[in-house]
Amino acid sequence: MARNKITIAGSGNVGAETAHIAAGKKLGDIVLLDIVEGLAQGKALDIAEASPIKLSSPGIVGTCDWEQTADSDIVIITSGLPRKPGMSRDDLLAKNTQIVKDVSAKAAKHSPEAIIIVVCNPLDAMVYVAASITGFDSDKVMGMAGVLDSGRFSYFIASELGVSVDDVKCVLLGGHGDDMVPLPRYTSISGIPVTELLTEEKIARLIERTRKGGIEVVNLLGCSAYYAPAAGAVKMAEAILGDTKAVMSCCAYCDSEYGVGGHFVGVPVVLGRNGVKKVIELELKESERKQFEKSLAHVKQLTAKVDKFL
Ligand code: 2OP
Repeated sequence: MARNKITIAGSGNVGAETAHIAAGKKLGDIVLLDIVEGLAQGKALDIAEASPIKLSSPGIVGTCDWEQTADSDIVIITSGLPRKPGMSRDDLLAKNTQIVKDVSAKAAKHSPEAIIIVVCNPLDAMVYVAASITGFDSDKVMGMAGVLDSGRFSYFIASELGVSVDDVKCVLLGGHGDDMVPLPRYTSISGIPVTELLTEEKIARLIERTRKGGIEVVNLLGCSAYYAPAAGAVKMAEAILGDTKAVMSCCAYCDSEYGVGGHFVGVPVVLGRNGVKKVIELELKESERKQFEKSLAHVKQLTAKVDKFL
């Protein structure tokens, strides 16, 4: 059977760490790409040289040449500017739209059958750019944010309760912004609803920390998070390449689902070899629906701004 081929566009912190984790999991042949001469090549060589020590996969090349990405099964787009302290994700819109446009066109040309996972910000709008430029079916283009935000929420809950992170499962809806919607009603610890174990006030505090999770790291580090975002991208790639039908929150195309009306936004989905197999629709209470609609309205605003650059 042919080996999986994974292109990672952008060799900054997120791209390189995505390659590093994917190599560790032996996901397939990895092409790490960047426009800066030497950057992808150097990082790929370093990761390959670690492979005998870590017993990971040496199947990685670094390049500036899109030809080498030909016929990838997955293209993970991490290219774009990251946030600096004082910046919102939305401040990146104009510059990153141009970058994602360019990268998406090249991805579509060289890997017409690929699944696209977008990681750069503002996430939901960048997924829309990638979908518009590639022209790929909407189930083949998606964004990584829900996995990251779920990871943050789960970590905060596990730390608060002193339980294993493995046992916390949660669902998030909405855009990857300060108005994202973690759903405590659908969050459990080995099947026990979190609402049975933590007070409403504690849960509200952890939700707020999750919503501000990105900027908390930016303020400490001086640049965007990358370990958790990279882990999120690889988790999605694993589910797709392995056709596992894993359920996770991702930025996916919704039309009638949740009454979204044709936008990319965070929802729980089933992932398989062809991309998003299904959007899982949950019954929402009035207050949850209102929060989701607020977040969706923000995503729609950003998408409308992006349209001017397409
Ligand atoms: C974050 O939330 C980079 O948007 C990403 O950390």
